Order: sequence, then C-alpha cells, then structure tokens
Amino acid sequence: MTRVIFQPWGVVAEVSTGTTLLDAARVAGVEIESVCGGRGTCAKCRVIVSEGVTEPTTLELRGLSTQELSVGYRLACQAVVVGDCRVVVPEEAQITRVSILADGMQRTITLEPWALGHTLIVPAPTLEDQMADDARLAAAWAEFVEAQPIGGGTYANMTLGALRQLPHAVRADEGRVTLLQVDGDVVQIEPGQRSEHLLGIAFDLGTTTVVGYLLDLETGEQLAVASLLNPQTRYGDDVVSRIAFSQREGGLETLHKEIVGALNRIVAATVADAGEPFSTQDIVAATVVGNTTMQHLLLGVSPAALAQSPYVPAVMSARQVPAKALGFDVHPEAHVWTLPNIAGWVGADTVGVLLATGIYDDEGISLAIDIGTNGEMAMGSRERLVTCSTAAGPAFEGAHLSCGMRAAEGAIDTVHLDGDVWWHSIGDAPPRGVCGSGLVDLVAEMLRTGIISTTGMMEDGETLRHNGRARLAERISQEGRMRVFELVEAAEGAGGRPVRVTQRDVRELQLAKGAIRAGIEILMKELGVTPADVQRVYLAGAFGNYVRPESALAIGLIPHFPHAEIIPVGNAAGSGAKMALLSRSARELASTLVRRVEYLELSGRADFQEEFSEAMLFDA
Ligand code: FES
Repeated sequence: MTRVIFQPWGVVAEVSTGTTLLDAARVAGVEIESVCGGRGTCAKCRVIVSEGVTEPTTLELRGLSTQELSVGYRLACQAVVVGDCRVVVPEEAQITRVSILADGMQRTITLEPWALGHTLIVPAPTLEDQMADDARLAAAWAEFVEAQPIGGGTYANMTLGALRQLPHAVRADEGRVTLLQVDGDVVQIEPGQRSEHLLGIAFDLGTTTVVGYLLDLETGEQLAVASLLNPQTRYGDDVVSRIAFSQREGGLETLHKEIVGALNRIVAATVADAGEPFSTQDIVAATVVGNTTMQHLLLGVSPAALAQSPYVPAVMSARQVPAKALGFDVHPEAHVWTLPNIAGWVGADTVGVLLATGIYDDEGISLAIDIGTNGEMAMGSRERLVTCSTAAGPAFEGAHLSCGMRAAEGAIDTVHLDGDVWWHSIGDAPPRGVCGSGLVDLVAEMLRTGIISTTGMMEDGETLRHNGRARLAERISQEGRMRVFELVEAAEGAGGRPVRVTQRDVRELQLAKGAIRAGIEILMKELGVTPADVQRVYLAGAFGNYVRPESALAIGLIPHFPHAEIIPVGNAAGSGAKMALLSRSARELASTLVRRVEYLELSGRADFQEEFSEAMLFDA
C-alpha cells in the first residue's frame, strides 16, 4: 500500500499502486472536479504532484500546457500512483458550494395528502358482540369517516405489519388506536392518541444539485429546505458519464448509495432546521422528481439502456416503494413515490414542471423549457401537449468549455462590453470561470460589439480596431490556430489565472443553442403554430431563472415571440414534487399527464438536422 496525502487539508488515502489519483481522492473523501467522469477529456481535475506517479499520458499532454506540466500539474484521473506522494489540489479543481435554486412557481392546490394519521375508538368485544378485531376496526373506521369527511375514505388494505399490531393495539388503551394510512393502506396501528407529527419530504434530484423540501402534511406548510451538491458528481458531471460509471463493477451500487446518502443528509438537515418537536421518524411520505437517469439510479435500476439507441428506460411509470427498501432514515412505514418519466431523455422533472406551470390546462399556447445538460421542453395547451429533449450538451452548465464552470462562487454570471469589459462574479469573488447565464450574456455582448460575427467567427484585433473597438481589440490574441478573447486579466482572476474565452468555447455554445432552438422550432412545427401564437414562455431551472431573457433572445436561443410573456419559474420541477406530496389529485394528474403528452424523438427526424444547422447561426 502507498500513502497519498492531499493538500491543503492533509488528508491521507492508503491505496494500492496502480490506483489513479482521482480514485485515491475518492478514498480520502476529497472532492475533485471531474466533469468527464475520469475519461481524461475535460482537463478539470488538475492537481499538482511531483513524485510517486506515472509519466504524463497522451491525454495529459493534450489537456495541459507545457508550462503547466513543467510546474507539476497533472490530471488526477490519468496520473497513477506508483509510490508515496503528496498532491496539492488547487482551488480551481476543488468542488465548491454551488448556488442552488430552491424556490419555484407553484399553483394553488387543495391539501389532500396521501399519508394520513387518525385516532379513533374501537369498541371492545363482548360475549354478545364477538366480531373479530379487524371487523370491529372496519366498523369503527366507517363511523369515523362518516363523522369526519376529511378522513381518508375507505382503506384498501391493512398491511401484514399493521395486522400483527392490531390485537395488542385495540386492547392496550380502552380501544383508542392511531392508524397511519399511506395511500389508502393502513400500515401501522398503535395504541393511544396520536402524538407524532405527520411530515413529508419532496426531493428534486438534479444531476448537479439535490434539493429537499420538508412539509407538514396536515397544514401544507413548508417547514424547511436543504440542498446539496449531488455527490455523484465525483463520478462525472453529466448523466452520460454517470451511466458509463454505473456499468463498471460495483458502479451502480456506488451511485445508488451516494444519492441515498445525500437524501438522508437532506432529511437530517431539514428536520434539524425545522427544530423541536420534529424528528426524522415523523416523515411518512416522500416524492421524488429527477431526470430519467437519476430516477433509475435512486431506485438502483441500471440506466445502461438509456445510453444506447433506441434509448429505452427500464422504468417509466411512477413507483411507490417502501422508504426502508431504499435505505431512507425516516418513519419505518414511510413510502417514497417517484414521479413518472415521459421518455428516456424527458424525465419526471419535466412532469414536475408541467404540474407547477399548469401548461396542460392553458388556453393559449405555452412553452416550458428546462435547460441543463439536456434541454427538455414542452409546448401546447389544454388541447394538445408535445415534448422533446435535445442533447444540448453541458455548455449551459458551464461544463466542457475551457472557461466554463458551474454557477458557484467566483463564476462570472453577468457581462457587459462597451468601451471596455464589465463583469460580475457570484459572491463577488475573484473570477474562476464563466457559468451558463454569464456565457449567454458574454456571447450576446460579443455579437453586439462585433467581436464575433453571426456565424460565430471571432474577429481579429485589426478588424475590431478598424471598427472603433480598440480596447476590446487588445483582448484578442491568437493561440495556435484559435482566437481567444481575454475576459479577465490574470491579475484579477482567482489564483492569478486569466479567464479566457476561446473560439472553441463559442462553438460549443453555438451547438448547444442550436439544439435548443431547433427543438423549439420542431415543437412549433408539430403543433402548426408560429411564434406569434405563443402566449407564455416559462423558463425553468437555475439557468432559466438567471439568464437574462434579452441575452437569450439576442443569441437566438429562443425565437422572438411577439406576444409572449417570458416567465422565469425557478425550480418548477421541485414545486411539482411538492404538489405531488400534498395532493393525491396532483399525483394522479402526473400519471395521467405522461399518457397525454406526446413525445417527439428528434434523433430520427431529418427536419431536426435542417433546423439545427440553421439554428446554429446567431441571427437565426
Ligand atoms: Fe480528469 Fe476529466 S480529465 S476528470
């Protein structure tokens, strides 16, 4: 075994030789950016190490500059341990707290929880009345429901566990019993008056972030919210990398355990935040939205088929599973309800957005877009709803770009170019890169000031100078065959590093924007509508919430809708999960909607390719 020490924390991993530094970091619990999941293509896992590792690989020679290699920079996923070593993880490779959007638009619903608790009296048996315990309970229940219409209606079944509790419960406190009813079934019978609270938790399981909302099921009140970076990001930033990791030996179990662990941490954090008298054991119901891959990984079901044509998921329908089967630290009889998926690449998170925005019931045409690694979108009205997903690539999440990063501290989120450059970074920290909304702003400004043309080509300094943009021209340089625009000078950047946007970064954004725009065009075509018919555009998710609509329009990410109201709806997917937790009808609606929505598979359509090539242009 060899010892690998990670600085600046001084934590030690004991690993066998042949282990990569990235795997050693996982052993040590050190989180290193690994956007490509360790495939050596993103160059984000940079660490500094001088001995005890193998020589640089071809991928490292490609991903690191000669200067970086000369001072000991290596890619943690490529460098393999051959002896004791000391590894410095520079700030830019450390996973930082990500800005997480928790609030979202939510429609008014009638409180109608599917987990309920009731206290009632079951009369004692006599020699004259020898009805069995279960029959006496059923009679008492019928009377109770008649007297209190807010009760749970008829119960469908008594679980074996509850049946075993029944004889003792009905005799221990003069017939007073408390029933816990989950989704119609009586799952627990305890003697005495109900003393516990009935809580539920709604999870939005994102590829990058996980949010949990703790709700009081009896009042609908939100007691606390907590969020975390999805710990699966250690194994790759995007779903494709996670699917690849899940196919390794033990990979699926690892990803499943990681996410269950994160959800348990959120449970603990929300209950602690809600304070006395609540406990994790008061949580009797949970709902989950997430993309199709995340839903699979939570259930521990292989998502492998999602990555291969014809991209068929193993699980499409809503699932109700006992929380203890998933390893949740909540009430032992709690149930978890995962919202249904629409298709392999349009998941339950889109169902959540549909529930929260209510576009299924709109009179005019509405468009809802949730942009992440994929652009998931739905368009229509109460007449007809169509949905599709475009493989936008992770550019809008700041990944796979030389200057890109997540919306975390130090990410540039707003840019203005005029005589010179003005930018704002999250947390007012020294900038480390540009997040998705910042990039859209930047490219919109580069277009407006003529730094790039509508084809996306970056101009040379001479042309810019000629066009009266002398200060901006100074920031253009040539790196090999590629032009580069220096947004932040080294002296202002975090760690003395500049933030530079390359021609390749602009191309990546063009591809992503082209895919989203082409998806919107196909949806309009399918419905036979024009931009003038669209009345509402809901922008969901963190990117949609923070992107400036005028910049999104300027780069042609969305068409100009002359009559539409553009409405950022925040974490609408999470709002949908809350609705499904508090309302049995919303939950049923979710299942009905997935049967109603028409899914368009774009990969097989020739017209998508045509729309895509056209939409790549910035003036499309
Ligand atoms: Fe190492 Fe991407 S290059 S994780």
